[in-house]
Amino acid sequence: CGIVGYIGHREAYPIVLEGLKRLEYRGYDSAGIALYNGENIELCKTKGKVSDLEEKVKDEINTSGTVGIGHTRWATHGVPNDVNSHPHYSNSGDLVIIHNGIIENYASLKKELISRGYTFKSDTDTEVLINLIEDVQINEKVKLGKAVQIALNQVVGAYAIAVFDKKKPNEIVVAKLGSPLAIGVGDNEFFIASDATPFLEYTKKAIYLEDEQMAIVRLKKGVKIRKIKTDSLVAPYVQELQMNLEQIVKGGYEHFMLKEIHEQPDAIKDTYRGRLNAKEGLIRMAGIDDNIEKFLNANRIVIIACGTSWHAGLVAEYIFEDLVRIPVEVEYASEFRYRNPVITENDVVIAISQSGETADTLAAIKLAKSKGAFVFGVCNVVGSTIARETHAGAYTHAGPEIGVASTKAFTTQITVLMLIALKLAKEKGSISKSSFHHHLQELELIPGKVKKALKQDEHIKKIAEIYKDAKNCLYLGRGYNFPVALEGALKLKEISYIHAEGYPAAEMKHGPIALIDEHMPVFVIATKKGHYEKVVSNIEEIKARKGKIIGIVTEGDEAVKGLADHVIEVPETLESLSPLLTTIPLQLLSYHIAVLLNRNVDQPRNLAKSVTVE
Ligand code: G6P
Repeated sequence: CGIVGYIGHREAYPIVLEGLKRLEYRGYDSAGIALYNGENIELCKTKGKVSDLEEKVKDEINTSGTVGIGHTRWATHGVPNDVNSHPHYSNSGDLVIIHNGIIENYASLKKELISRGYTFKSDTDTEVLINLIEDVQINEKVKLGKAVQIALNQVVGAYAIAVFDKKKPNEIVVAKLGSPLAIGVGDNEFFIASDATPFLEYTKKAIYLEDEQMAIVRLKKGVKIRKIKTDSLVAPYVQELQMNLEQIVKGGYEHFMLKEIHEQPDAIKDTYRGRLNAKEGLIRMAGIDDNIEKFLNANRIVIIACGTSWHAGLVAEYIFEDLVRIPVEVEYASEFRYRNPVITENDVVIAISQSGETADTLAAIKLAKSKGAFVFGVCNVVGSTIARETHAGAYTHAGPEIGVASTKAFTTQITVLMLIALKLAKEKGSISKSSFHHHLQELELIPGKVKKALKQDEHIKKIAEIYKDAKNCLYLGRGYNFPVALEGALKLKEISYIHAEGYPAAEMKHGPIALIDEHMPVFVIATKKGHYEKVVSNIEEIKARKGKIIGIVTEGDEAVKGLADHVIEVPETLESLSPLLTTIPLQLLSYHIAVLLNRNVDQPRNLAKSVTVE
């Protein structure tokens, strides 16, 4: 989500509105604005884009006033509709809030507030937070800043918030944990935003709040920063911004794809946040909890998807059959929908889609539903058509993916599917207690390991330089890493336009081996766990035919290093989780090759992010 705020001497509305347009890349399910005109708070919000909000504002509210906050939403709780959009009022109507992030313990806080007489208009965690702040303000007779601090100390989750109180119209209170928040410092005027793009033309002076910090932004008095937990004052560090608009939108990265590749440690964490509790050995997922019998009684699971999502489905096939011992079939949605498939009410269908809008996947879902199957969706875009058409589902919570070549959607889809499989395996008793715990612990370590894998970037760039002019490339992997080979080849094709094929390593001898000569780079995933010796034999076969070998190996590997022309190391993990790591260098490699070839990385020719036609 994106948040914007202004307090100063100018009209707040145009500043907040333009700011929201710049932040739309952060999400565009819904948008809203609250303005203070010296007497009242005027609030307007709507499902849809900021341009929809602009239209609605014209009919609904008076836009005068020099204080305002606005929000463009990427939904996490509640479908994107007018009611769930931000800003949210407190029950008294005196306070308004905009919030980016997730309050994990919102359900228990909400229950408590309801018992104290609070009522709620929306399904959001944000409305719970603003009423909690109001409750503290009233009960403890404290000012807004203090009330925000006390409330945040009761909250578990991630947030960037801005709160305005009609009774204290000279200030806006902001706080941050996990989600970004910048304060633009002008001449007795202040700007608040998720990044600096909304205020760049007004001021280049910015304060970036650190995690667990809050600030009272007050006219005439300036910015006062405190640590939320310890209450200690922090001297504001005002930076002089050097970046231009475009660089800031892309978070300092040259392309969205690179930004999204680097977001994966956080995206994976966001996917399991609030769901996985390794200490207590728990996985909570409402969509599964409510339908557990459907899954446990199913004869088989059929996974339908397209593109990269289909590859995530293939990884899931290995995971589910291994851990849950239930037969799984993975199908291209476009084939499934036209081939009169045998589907009954005893089947569970899992549809995977980043966008939630892919036409073939949607048609396949409708077909499966018409045959009585229970259909479960794994989508990234909250409230998307597929999320609504399926009987139940689980979101990936990866945040908006803008680059056409899918990266963080893939790893977060695998993360969700792993959580589902582990939950089912535990319920079914098909996994031992110790293995279950081990999986949970290892999954929690994945974000850190992805971070480590990303550190190979410079080394990968050098390899990209060597192979950028290849006409063909081969990607090989076995078991869990066979789908990663397919995904690696797809990434290269999509953005560099180099022909690439992914194959199960052992299938090489049934055809692709004929292609191998000294011009053929072969990317081989050869991590320690999972058919390692067999893959090493495949590598020997390539070497014997003078192919160029680039091995994706486990840290410390020696055998492949001795044979390959280059190796790229990834940290060790469970075999079933290894796709989350082995896919990282292949994404980076495609990215660097495409950049070196001067391709349009984020919008490759002929492709679309969301394919809503057949
Ligand atoms: C398009 C995109 C791919 C994506 C596929 C499926 O082809 O370019 O990156 O994997 O659609 O999209 P979905 O949104 O259903 O995951």
